[in-house]
Amino acid sequence: MKLFNKILLTLTTTAGLLVSGASMAAGDAGNGQKLFSGSKCDKCHGTEVFTRTDRKVKDLKGLEAQVRRCDSNLNTNWFDDEILDVTAHLNKKFYKFK
Ligand code: HEC
Repeated sequence: MKLFNKILLTLTTTAGLLVSGASMAAGDAGNGQKLFSGSKCDKCHGTEVFTRTDRKVKDLKGLEAQVRRCDSNLNTNWFDDEILDVTAHLNKKFYKFK
């Protein structure tokens, strides 16, 4: 039983690393910039919300979640990798999270 738990733990940890590793690598900031400027993201707010002192987003996960929320507000229907590309673009240009 103990051994089984250990194997399970190793498996889930490895899977977790693979998933987070993949999503890190998937964000293409160059493509994200194209998507961002080609969409209507400036309909409700400009880029000033990304740099204001009391901005809401505090980390990369939060940024991705907010891009998702705004994407569904707008009905852009970006695919997952496009969400990650736009997240990478906004992070590179404005947020600069590690
Ligand atoms: C329907 C209106 C609307 C559209 C369109 C919209 N947003 Fe937003 N966005 C909001 C609102 C509302 C907030 C929250 C502002 C606040 O809390 O003060 C926000 C906040 C954000 C933030 C967080 C800013 C912060 O405080 O750190 C990001 C990032 C963001 N939007 C990205 C996008 C992107 C990318 C798009 C294009 C897909 C987009 N938004 C389009 C309404 C919109």
